Amino acid sequence: MILMAVESSCDETAVALVEDGRTVLADCIASQVALHRIYGGVVPEIASRKHVEAVCGLADQALKEAGLRRAQIDAVAVTYAPGLIGAVLVGVNFAKGAALALGKPLVPVHHIRGHIAANYLADPELKPPFLALVVSGGHTLIADVKDYTDLEILGSTRDDAAGECFDKVARVLDMPYPGGAALDRTAQGGDPEKYPMPDSVVAGSELDMSFSGLKTAAINRIHNAQQKGEELDVPSLCAGFSKAVCRTLVPRTLRALELTGRKTLAVAGGVAANSVIRAAFTEETAKRGVKLCMPPLSLCGDNAAMIGAQGYYEYLAGNIADQSLNGYATMDVCDRRF
Ligand code: KG4
Ligand code: ZN
Repeated sequence: MILMAVESSCDETAVALVEDGRTVLADCIASQVALHRIYGGVVPEIASRKHVEAVCGLADQALKEAGLRRAQIDAVAVTYAPGLIGAVLVGVNFAKGAALALGKPLVPVHHIRGHIAANYLADPELKPPFLALVVSGGHTLIADVKDYTDLEILGSTRDDAAGECFDKVARVLDMPYPGGAALDRTAQGGDPEKYPMPDSVVAGSELDMSFSGLKTAAINRIHNAQQKGEELDVPSLCAGFSKAVCRTLVPRTLRALELTGRKTLAVAGGVAANSVIRAAFTEETAKRGVKLCMPPLSLCGDNAAMIGAQGYYEYLAGNIADQSLNGYATMDVCDRRF
């Protein structure tokens, strides 16, 4: 079964063709990052307009790359939540039009479920149940993936997402938006112990997380050095910050593995590209005999192939929408609104 999948929830317009949820036939992405960079973040109005300009051409490009005709598409999957609402609606409306014109089912996909499903593309053997850690620009959560479409959130951030903190700290260090990857590169060779960073505990919840205090501490340390005219060792500050993010993510994820008894961990989302986080999970899961799945860097960030992977399983579960489908800026990963 071939799904055409559409993703437009933030600043990447993407269309992919995916077979049976596991094989990527084409994965086309038009990134707007360079456009938003001059503003230091995504400008929603610009993002929506650029999605409108890019989406049709990307669909044609995907078909061409896969060597397929429109008639060979069996269903159309689309990210319908969460995201910048104007941006989400572009993809939703394109997918509705495509499904109607082709006379094929329309499959709504939650963006975070898509991130988790990037692991189905990376590892053909991966099957639920497993534990998932999603770390992206807008979300940080630990989910028990009981089945392909049955998830339970075990813990999540109470304030900022991990990616948001990487980007804010990077911005104060004058790195171009989105600064997570640049901060990661800068951290190489730094001394993570040089600038102590705080840890946080969410009272009464061992799996919930908080990043805003860490973000503020890192930014204050930078401003403090600037005010005193002190030369900051930027690689060490970045290394210390990355390590502190790991100190929040890793023990909680390991605890969730213990509590659920799951033997497989899938890490997903843009921040799953971080080298310190990847190394920490590789080491800790090996010690415990836990199988670790992490998508290649190309499938960590936003893409449509992951939406096609999850869309396949949503389709099998009968999660099909009609032409009244709407888009939503926020939605719990366990919810369904169609
Ligand atoms: O999943 P994603 O592409 O978009 C959302 O759904 O939010 O995640 C984007 C986030 C950005 O905050 C970006 O800075 C971060 O992922 N990111 C990284 C790295 N690569 C991307 N953060 C830390 N280290 C990286 N190597
Ligand atoms: Zn994302």
